[in-house]
Amino acid sequence: MALDNLRAFLGAIDANGDLVRVGRAISVDKELTEIADRCMKSPGGGPALLFEHPTLQRGGVSRFPVAVNLFGSEQRMALALGVTHLDEIGDRIADLLNLKVPEGLFGKLAMLPKLAEVARFPPKTVGGRPPCQDTVIREQDLDLSQFPVPVCWPQDGGPYITLPGVITRDPTTGVRNVGMYRIQVIGRNEVAMHWQRHKVGAAHWREMAERRETMPVAIALGGDPASIYAASAPLPPAIDEFLFAGFLRRAPVRLAKAVTSDLEVPAEAEVVLEGYVDPREALVLEGPFGDHTGFYSLADYYPKVHITAITMRSEPIWPHTIVGRPPMEDYYLGHATERIFLPLLKLTLPEIVDLHMPAEGIFHNLVFVSIDKQYPGQAYKVMNGLWGQGLMSLAKVIVVVDKDVSVRDPREAWWVALNHIDPERDVRFTRGPIDVLDHASRGFTFGSKMGIDGTRKWKEEGFTREWPDKIEMDEETKRRVDAMWKELGIDL
Ligand SMILES: Cc1cc2nc3c(=O)[nH]c(=O)nc-3n(C[C@H](O)[C@H](O)[C@H](O)COP(=O)(O)O)c2cc1C
Repeated sequence: MALDNLRAFLGAIDANGDLVRVGRAISVDKELTEIADRCMKSPGGGPALLFEHPTLQRGGVSRFPVAVNLFGSEQRMALALGVTHLDEIGDRIADLLNLKVPEGLFGKLAMLPKLAEVARFPPKTVGGRPPCQDTVIREQDLDLSQFPVPVCWPQDGGPYITLPGVITRDPTTGVRNVGMYRIQVIGRNEVAMHWQRHKVGAAHWREMAERRETMPVAIALGGDPASIYAASAPLPPAIDEFLFAGFLRRAPVRLAKAVTSDLEVPAEAEVVLEGYVDPREALVLEGPFGDHTGFYSLADYYPKVHITAITMRSEPIWPHTIVGRPPMEDYYLGHATERIFLPLLKLTLPEIVDLHMPAEGIFHNLVFVSIDKQYPGQAYKVMNGLWGQGLMSLAKVIVVVDKDVSVRDPREAWWVALNHIDPERDVRFTRGPIDVLDHASRGFTFGSKMGIDGTRKWKEEGFTREWPDKIEMDEETKRRVDAMWKELGIDL
């Protein structure tokens, strides 16, 4: 059964014994971060937390609880998407992509439902008053300081909304985008929108700026967990995240008309901030912000969103995450993307066997990829191919190894790759776009990349010496030792 909203997700986490309710008053001013950070750093990602009585920046106890670390373990991430293992979704996508035309009429007919599955669960706009509009606040009553918006880290520029789905529409194609971009609260009814230049929301904004038109924006907090995840997924601009969420949850996402714009918002959201960006208006200073690199991202100029309405459920829960030195909750969101999108990468780079972005590499800094090498130079083909795909273009270091190496174990991947390289021969540098959060590149969002070919080298690649085998014990000796193991008194 698909989970329809944040409270259903919390209930399911609670039923698994994986939720800790914090009844004590905890300040949203850094205290909440320190507690959540300790949980997120514990093995396996720690429990989900519900802060029942957060205290506000302006003083006083908030009416609304704050939920943190809901997606912060492999098990909870799978629960959010209604599977036991995330690879099940990758397998489902791989099956859809296996579009080999079958033999015979029955085989062909059997294919039809498979193709239809992609578009089987489009979002559904519902009439009447949706749960997310139980309460509607407008005009002089708009006041974001009543919400428990945390200040995460000591040098942060202000309180931050960290787990939103930012809804915009492409003015040319009309296709919706939902992106997870952090948002700084800068006034009672004003926020700064940190959509980075490589992201789809920013592309919509640039287009609206060219047209000199006001851009409607809706910021959804909560909703069904598949939609929350989908906002963080690097989908191509032509794909609506709510359609993708419907595919993931095998049930449509219910939407409702916003009250002050023509956008649609998730009917099951906890809180929705409706507003607009006026591209003719000056940008505002956003940040600094303690970021998922583990360093502060520096203050910079971003668009201001004017809030025109706040709508919410009757007893809303405020969803939140903390980013900072890894590992954090966002590792699990990114890990889901890694697993789900692998079959799509394999479609254009079929030699890829597996791919992994370890937590320390914070996604764009390090990508391990294993390949089924069939010809010389193939490692370079794969690196260049990855650097040519969507947000993979931001990857700073790509390490390619052979298919027998488990890239999901970074210690194994480094061990083999470092053994297999002659640095001058096997390391290549190139240039390209760099993640906005990278503080070391020579220019803002522009710099160099490194590809490491950690595969076995072939004669055609100029390697003429003998290549040694990996040390492995023979089966006969292992069997003999297995048989005597209990008698040895070695307790491992
Ligand atoms: C917790 C979290 C916070 C994020 N914050 C930002 C952000 O502030 N700005 C940004 O551009 N991307 C941010 N991202 C990454 C985007 O959500 C991600 O790149 C997504 O694919 C963007 O959607 P889009 O491709 O529709 O633009 C964040 C991701 C997570 C998981």
